Amino acid sequence: MKKIFVGICTGIVFFLNACSKDDAPSSAILATPVANPATEINDTSFKAKWNFVSSAQNYLLDVSLSRDFTDFVTNYNAKSVNDLNDIVMNLIGGTQYYYRVRAVRGTEISNYSNVISVITSGTFVNADTLLKVKAANNFFVGAAVSSSRLSGAYNTLITTEFSSITAENEMKMETIFTGPGTYNWTQADAIVDYAIANNINVHGHALVWHGSVPSWMNSYTGTDAEFEQLVHDYITAVVTRYVGKVTSWDVVNEAINDGGGTRNTIFLQKMGANYIAKCFQWAREADPNVLLFYNDYNTSTDISKQNDVYALIDDLKTNNVPIDGVGLQMHIKYDSPTKQELQTDVDKVLARNLKLHFSELDVRANSNDSQVLNTLTPERKLAQKMKYREVVEVYNAIPATYKYAITVWGMKYNESWILNQFNRVDWPLLFDNSFNRKVTHTGFLEGLE
Ligand code: XIL
Repeated sequence: MKKIFVGICTGIVFFLNACSKDDAPSSAILATPVANPATEINDTSFKAKWNFVSSAQNYLLDVSLSRDFTDFVTNYNAKSVNDLNDIVMNLIGGTQYYYRVRAVRGTEISNYSNVISVITSGTFVNADTLLKVKAANNFFVGAAVSSSRLSGAYNTLITTEFSSITAENEMKMETIFTGPGTYNWTQADAIVDYAIANNINVHGHALVWHGSVPSWMNSYTGTDAEFEQLVHDYITAVVTRYVGKVTSWDVVNEAINDGGGTRNTIFLQKMGANYIAKCFQWAREADPNVLLFYNDYNTSTDISKQNDVYALIDDLKTNNVPIDGVGLQMHIKYDSPTKQELQTDVDKVLARNLKLHFSELDVRANSNDSQVLNTLTPERKLAQKMKYREVVEVYNAIPATYKYAITVWGMKYNESWILNQFNRVDWPLLFDNSFNRKVTHTGFLEGLE
């Protein structure tokens, strides 16, 4: 009853106010509204509130991630509101926002109100927590690195946040295998030595990959048997050199086509269908203890490919080929794969009693086919963060014996291979161009809760 009465009174006040504004414009100065603390705060929204201003027709609401309102949450740059509150939606959990309002009467606009600060709820983790500390003892948190990016701020970041590194390019054939029987170890050694000096794990990537075949091999004119001998010698030399220093190797990378079928690489052509098994055997002969992985991408969403990848793995296992684990590359998008698709893929690895590596993680905020963003909107940022969280959650939930590492494919946004690969801007990693942790980093931490 009381509520109804209050409601009627409020209605009358608004009605009178509306009447007065239809009359001659009030000559009184339009007061500055007073913003009140937010209510109904949850993961993705809150209710912004302010006091009534006499003779105001509507209010302009600003919501921003920065106290000085240098940018605005989408749709909240002077959003017109006809009420004394507004539900601000599509926000990121555990994030600090600010809002302020102005009153409007005709063409008159008041001064800005006071600024209200509000932190959305949700799985609130201390965003300053370090990744490797949070994941401590459960699995390695890795990053792709290069030998020229191991000092200064890179060094600080690697040694504080990460417990494992992978050479983004410099332990691939194209860098190391300079000619028949000749090897360039300079960059690979620098990376491995750095890891040892800093007590960081090394995941080796990748012994055999069609994407990094030296040009002299592509134009090789020797016999197939000689070619095979070269590959054998290469694998033996590389694995032997790093015995006891490199914990694991991607032995064969991306051997299955998009849409299924064995990829028609130079290795297949010259060594035959058995080349994959041979590479694993040679790696094992060179190091009886190193973990041997098969690594591939898009297996969660490309089901024909997924089927063929696990058929290949089953075949290796049936033939007692030494394989210890599977790397799922995790070059994914803010909206794909779904958690269920990912889980199904993961379960296939576990069902084969193999270790799982979420290798090469990055989450595109721009997907292939949908509208391309030139700036990261709060909505997209939230979806991207949630995808990071989901991926880490799925990984963290697998039994300890299958855990190995989650490796992020780079450090800073602007150095991500994604920008070149898709030829457009993106923000796929955990740190911005100035090494600042981004909300994706918080998403990673939340996945470990
Ligand atoms: C990419 C690197 O990130 C780029 O710098 C390079 O130009 C090409 O290779 N799958 C893999 C990685 O297994 O080795 C690739 O790395 C990305 C796709």
